[in-house]
Amino acid sequence: MRALIEFKDVCKYYQMGDTVVKAADGISFQIFEGEFVAIVGQSGSGKSTCMNIIGCLDVPTSGTYLLDGRDVGGMNRDELAEIRNELLGFIFQQYNLLPKLNLAENVEVPMMYAGVPKAERRQRALAALDVVGLREKYKHKPSELSGGQQQRVSIARALVGEPSLILADEPTGALDSRTGREVLAILQDLHRQGHTIVLITHDNSIAVQAQRIIRLEDGHVIYDGPADAPEAVVTPKAAGTGEEAAV
Ligand SMILES: Nc1ncnc2c1ncn2[C@@H]1O[C@H](COP(=O)(O)OP(=O)(O)O)[C@@H](O)[C@H]1O
Ligand SMILES: [Mg+2]
Repeated sequence: MRALIEFKDVCKYYQMGDTVVKAADGISFQIFEGEFVAIVGQSGSGKSTCMNIIGCLDVPTSGTYLLDGRDVGGMNRDELAEIRNELLGFIFQQYNLLPKLNLAENVEVPMMYAGVPKAERRQRALAALDVVGLREKYKHKPSELSGGQQQRVSIARALVGEPSLILADEPTGALDSRTGREVLAILQDLHRQGHTIVLITHDNSIAVQAQRIIRLEDGHVIYDGPADAPEAVVTPKAAGTGEEAAV
């Protein structure tokens, strides 16, 4: 089976005056179709760096990133935008919904860029809103919804282009814990339906709800394995304090 995502010794270095910051320092992993993976780590561990590379928003300094077998490292801006639109659906902490558009129109936005005809756009938007339980509210504006509902709309918008990979960056970061759990439950449902999901979070209690955890520390992978293994939520630094394990 071919990996959907393959990182081979990926490095991202930043020059800061005289010092080099190694945001990613030799990261390797593969993610296969149908997996639900959380990339987790403390602030500064390299999560956003990995997210930007996986999401084709940035390219590695060295090493190889293959997305669906295609080498992203040598792509220019236009090629990156193209592969992004073709293969990826994004969910962010901020929902980024357009306030003047109703829910159906918001979900239709990516399809407008893709040139999908109007009638088909509406049909697919309503189907995607149905998946997140908001079809009957399709004429409402985002401001009429709760934060959790707005995040569900952004999930519908990520789904509507039938992406190969859903990339969620701290999707529950702006939500209270109960609403956050509801949004996580939707991602788990999507995983059960066969979607491939990569979730970026600093929060162990969120990460353990994925199937597999890749834990970063100082630009390195320090754990890659099942989310339900005891060692999945203990970092070397926190070991002994009990803090990290208390999730
Ligand atoms: N554009 C940049 N310029 C310089 N240093 C950066 C830049 N982006 C990230 N870094 C540094 O790289 C390291 C990893 O950052 P980041 O990937 O944002 O971590 P995280 O998302 O886990 O907090 C940090 O030390 C950060 O300060
Ligand atoms: Mg970050």
